[in-house]
Amino acid sequence: MRMWGGRFEGASDERMAEFTRSIDFDHALAVDDIVGSIAHVHGLGRAGLLEADEVEAIVRGLEGLRAEVEAEKLTWDPALEDIHMNLEVALRDRIGPVAGRLHTGRSRNDQVATDMRLWLRRTIDGIDVAVVEMERALVGLAGREGEAILPGMTHIQPAQPVLFAHHLLAYVEMLERDRGRLADCRRRANVSPLGSGALAGAGYPLDREATAAELGFDGVTANSLDGVSDRDFVVEALAAFALCMVHLSRLAEEITWWSNPRFGFVRASDSFSTGSSMMPNKKNPDPAELVRGKSARVIGALTTMLTLLKGLPLAYQKDMQDDKPALFDAAATLKASLLVMAGMVATLNVNRDRMRAAAGEGYTTATAVADALVRRGVAFRAAHHIVAALVGEAERGGEGLDALDDAVIAAALAASDDSIAIALVGDATVPGELRAAAGLEGAVAGCDVVGGTAPRRVAAALAVAKARLGI
Ligand code: ARG
Repeated sequence: MRMWGGRFEGASDERMAEFTRSIDFDHALAVDDIVGSIAHVHGLGRAGLLEADEVEAIVRGLEGLRAEVEAEKLTWDPALEDIHMNLEVALRDRIGPVAGRLHTGRSRNDQVATDMRLWLRRTIDGIDVAVVEMERALVGLAGREGEAILPGMTHIQPAQPVLFAHHLLAYVEMLERDRGRLADCRRRANVSPLGSGALAGAGYPLDREATAAELGFDGVTANSLDGVSDRDFVVEALAAFALCMVHLSRLAEEITWWSNPRFGFVRASDSFSTGSSMMPNKKNPDPAELVRGKSARVIGALTTMLTLLKGLPLAYQKDMQDDKPALFDAAATLKASLLVMAGMVATLNVNRDRMRAAAGEGYTTATAVADALVRRGVAFRAAHHIVAALVGEAERGGEGLDALDDAVIAAALAASDDSIAIALVGDATVPGELRAAAGLEGAVAGCDVVGGTAPRRVAAALAVAKARLGI
């Protein structure tokens, strides 16, 4: 018998029932629904709407249901539409007609809004743990491979050498911002809609604050219409999830390229690689590729949710039921992606020699050579011209900037329109100084500002990250 069937004649069309029910996915809210119901029943008792023995009987029944859910002993009846009605009927089966008092002063509208907030709160806490695990993996690798030098790129072309650790710590920064966004979302979501009723507010003098406090909420929603129809917290969560997936996807893309033998910078451990059914030579960084792929699902979930809400008038509309598949899938996808990437990064094999050889290709230390001229008083724009000429010479000669002979350097200085550069032509210490600046170590050490790639700055950043993670 349908709980709302009092004025209905005849049975539901099976196609309609199957199409409109949500139990296939909203059973994930079972524990949250029970926890919310227990607090609501306590509130009904405080308001004098239930006798003490009724409160006790219902709460004991709900606790029994919770144990059954946790032991996976409860089965769901699709005919009962959703988790709320499944649990209410299960309660009635166990404690009898007193269960009919549970839904006093409550609608499924404020009930599901409460469940979703409780679910999101604990899910964000679980995702935060996974983000921290990912950060630990990055920080661990940065610590192990602290001296490795990577070709830093812009436009996917060699730009300037950077410490590999510096590159990894950039992702730690992104993930820390992700944590901040998740915490912000959690804080705004952590208010109780219970007492909003169907849309106009419960018809009984419920102490909403007391019930909210019992559920660990920071307060109550201020408007009953908004309380039942606000899903901003779902959008915010999906936005934070999607951006975190985008960060993982960017790293996944890099790991995939770095694994190609043309780069040869890293190799995924066998435990995080797959093979080919046909090509015996293959070792593929599958987890990274799939993380990149799955970011599409999470971005899609955000789009789904924004589009779902866009045209909805107040207050509750059935469309909102479809927030769940998107949110549940996105959360599970993000958490699994974080954990698999953490494992992959923690076990990554790094080839420092290949990285170092590539770091020197493409005259990546040219900026450092220009900076050395500026330290001698040359205007930066003039220094840029001089070094560009030197890069041209080196390229023609097929040699590095650190191998140019004195005469080539003197000629480049003499051709400058900067009087200080011209005056340096006679200074015998200049060529050696420029060649030294053209070395990888010198170039990296030269970027000695807060947030720069100089080893002492990276060591400081690593220490901050470690302290934050308690490692
Ligand atoms: N299954 C519904 C949902 O998830 C519960 C709320 C239903 N409310 C209603 N008035 N039909 O949105």
